Formats: sequence, structure tokens, C-alpha cells
Amino acid sequence: MDAIRLHAFGPPENLALDQVPDPVPGPNEVRVAVRAHGVHLLDTTLRRGEAGGPLPLPDLPTIPGREIAGVVDAVGPGVDAAWRGRRVAAHLGARPDGGGYARLAVVPVEALHRVPAHVTAPDALAMIGTGRTAVGILDLAELTAEDVVVVTAAAGGLGTLLVQAAAATGARVVGLAGGPVKAALVRSLAEVSGPQVTRVTARPDTADGARVLSGPPSTGVTSHPDSERGTLTAIDYRADGWLDAARTAVGPSGATVLLDGVGGDAGTDAASLVRDGGRLVLFGWSSGAANRAAERPDDGGAGEDVGRDHRKSGGPASTHDVRWAVGPLARPWGDLFALQERALALAADGTWRVITHQVPLAEAARAHRELEERATTGKVVLV
Ligand SMILES: NC(=O)c1ccc[n+]([C@@H]2O[C@H](COP(=O)([O-])OP(=O)(O)OC[C@H]3O[C@@H](n4cnc5c(N)ncnc54)[C@H](OP(=O)(O)O)[C@@H]3O)[C@@H](O)[C@H]2O)c1
Repeated sequence: MDAIRLHAFGPPENLALDQVPDPVPGPNEVRVAVRAHGVHLLDTTLRRGEAGGPLPLPDLPTIPGREIAGVVDAVGPGVDAAWRGRRVAAHLGARPDGGGYARLAVVPVEALHRVPAHVTAPDALAMIGTGRTAVGILDLAELTAEDVVVVTAAAGGLGTLLVQAAAATGARVVGLAGGPVKAALVRSLAEVSGPQVTRVTARPDTADGARVLSGPPSTGVTSHPDSERGTLTAIDYRADGWLDAARTAVGPSGATVLLDGVGGDAGTDAASLVRDGGRLVLFGWSSGAANRAAERPDDGGAGEDVGRDHRKSGGPASTHDVRWAVGPLARPWGDLFALQERALALAADGTWRVITHQVPLAEAARAHRELEERATTGKVVLV
């Protein structure tokens, strides 16, 4: 079968398309003909050979990837033959050598999710690692219609789902995205965020150069929170003056919630938009640095999970309710399979519009490069 293998840690070009033997399902396993393979930022970290993340470095050569969607093409001993031909999606486990970037994958039958006929394989795939994380983050964030929610990397895999979900609660949402094209995508999410989001209007670039691609009417933000409830504003946070534009968008009382997977300068600046007592829900550091508004908990470098309401005193975070969601968690989110089921249901019933950035499997190196260069929107999927 075709498989992408990493033979040496290093740049994206080290991902090679190889021919390897077809895997054979053992007892209680099925083999899936994979149509969609998930790519994570963590895959790029492991490819570079950077230790200290939530997963250990793999032995080489390795087939990366931990999420798949496709069709069962063979069943192992003891497995009901009715599985053959079924459309499925699965997480291959929190392992650095998951085997997901391959045309065939062997999966325990209990890890399989059935995928309805109207849900595409890339969309189903996006609900496994990314969708489940979004559901977990949303459980942790406890959003209500009273909230003013700031989302970093709002055009990303998680961001596009979090923006939709936040807007659907009736909250005011400010999505921060890197570049005007990404900001435009975030604006388009208003169209699927439910009847509450009725006041999104285009407004021209602000004088200071920050592009406010959608948001409250051009009369600006008033001091009456109710008047802004249910609006979605997209701001390019790579443009000069974006923080001022974001302050205007959240309003004089400040934001109540930050959903941040970027960290670094952007995430820390975004945290300054949150009023005292607001929630900082932190789930990653794609910038390479933690959010300085809250001390990063020690995740043990091995996926040790960290519970909610992880507060640190002394720093600026002491004025906030900090909720960490890092690592391949079982706690505080509970059963990951159940989170995946919930995410799949949200995609299947059309609650979530799933955005994917699709790249052919043979071009896995390009997918990695684009993800590292911030050139993707939505969930990155190999097809
Ligand atoms: N806690 C968990 O279990 C869990 C699970 C999955 C993912 N995560 C984390 O959640 C975050 C978002 O994940 P995702 O899969 O949805 O990724 P993503 O948002 O689709 O992609 C990462 C985005 O981060 C932003 N970014 C800012 N600085 C960057 C840099 N130096 N290099 C690369 N990207 C940079 C970019 O968006 P802009 O250009 O718009 O800034 C980029 O598109 C990541 O930090 C990820 O590690 C955590």
C-alpha cells in the first residue's frame, strides 16, 4: 500500500511516499481503506524531532497520523462481517506512530464510529481529533448568550468550530485570524451560526490599518452590551493596530472569555481584552510560546492531563479564571469516544459547517509546510 513515512527527523521533505506491506487485521480488528487522514500541528513537531511535547518521539521509520476516515475493507477473526463496506472514522490512539498517513489502517472494532452517507470522509475525519477537542473546549468554557468571546486562530481547524458554536449561543464573538483572507472566512461563518447572528455587516478597514472585515454596524460599539449580542467580528491580527480594533469590538466592559490555542504575543495580547474575572480557556501554543497571561501547567511532557480551573497566583492570570485544556486528555473531558460521537453528530445534523484544507496524501510534505507557514484554513486533511 501507499504510505507516507518519516525516515529522519527534519524538514517536511523528509516525509516520503513509500510502498509498504498491507496490514492484516487481527482478532477484534478491522482494516479500513482510508479516504481521509488527519494532520495536526503536533505531527510537524514530531517530524522535526522536537522532544518535550505531549507525545514521545517515534522510532523511525514511522507512519505519522492518528485520525482516519474511510471504508472497512476487511475484518479480523471474531468481527461481524457486516462491518465490511461500512463508512467509518476512528482515532488510532495517542501514539506518535499512529499509522494514519497510509491507505490502509488496522483499527480495533470498538474504536469505530459509523459515518452517515451524507457526511464526507474529510468532514467526518475533522470531527475525530479536532471536533472532539472543540466539544471538550466548549464544555470547559461554559459559554452563554451573555458572553463576549474572543477566539484566536479563528480560521483554523478548532477556531472555525469554536466561532460557530460561540455565535450560536448568542454570544458576541470576536474572531482573530492571520490575514484578510482568513478574516473573510471567519466572517462567512456567521451564515451558519444560527438565527441569533443577525447583525453582521461589512464595514471598511479602520483608519489605523486593522481590517475589521465584519462586525457591528459602523456606528461602532455602544456601551449597551445587549445591542451587540450575537454579532461576529473578524479581525486580522497580523495587521497594525489590531488590538485597538479588537478592544473596540469587545466593547468597554471587555471580553468575558478567551479561547486561545496560539499563545505567545498574540494570545497574551488577546488575554488583555478579557475583563477581570473572565475565563481564559487555553488549549495550545501554535506560536511556539505559551500565553503569558497564565503560567503553563507542567504537562509532564508525556500527555499528563491537567484539570480545569488550574489557577496560578501572582501573575496577571490571578485576575482571571484560567481553564487549561492541554494534552491528549481523558480528564477533564471524560470519554474521548463520546466527545467524538458528539462532534460527528454536530457535523451530521448540519449544526457545524466543517471547513477542511485538503491535500493529496502523496503531498503530505506540502500539507506540513502549509500548516507550519500559517497558510491553511480549517482542518488539514490528506485525501
Ligand atoms: N488541547 C488539545 O488536546 C489540543 C488538540 C488539538 C489541537 N490543539 C492545539 O490547538 C491549537 C489549534 O489547533 P488546530 O489543529 O485547530 O490548528 P489550526 O488552528 O488549524 O492551525 C494553527 C494556527 O495557529 C496559528 N498560528 C499562529 N502562530 C503560528 C505559528 N508560529 N506556526 C503555526 N501556526 C501559527 C495560525 O493561524 P493564524 O494565521 O490565524 O494565526 C495557524 O493556522 C494548536 O495550538 C494545537 O496544538 C490542542
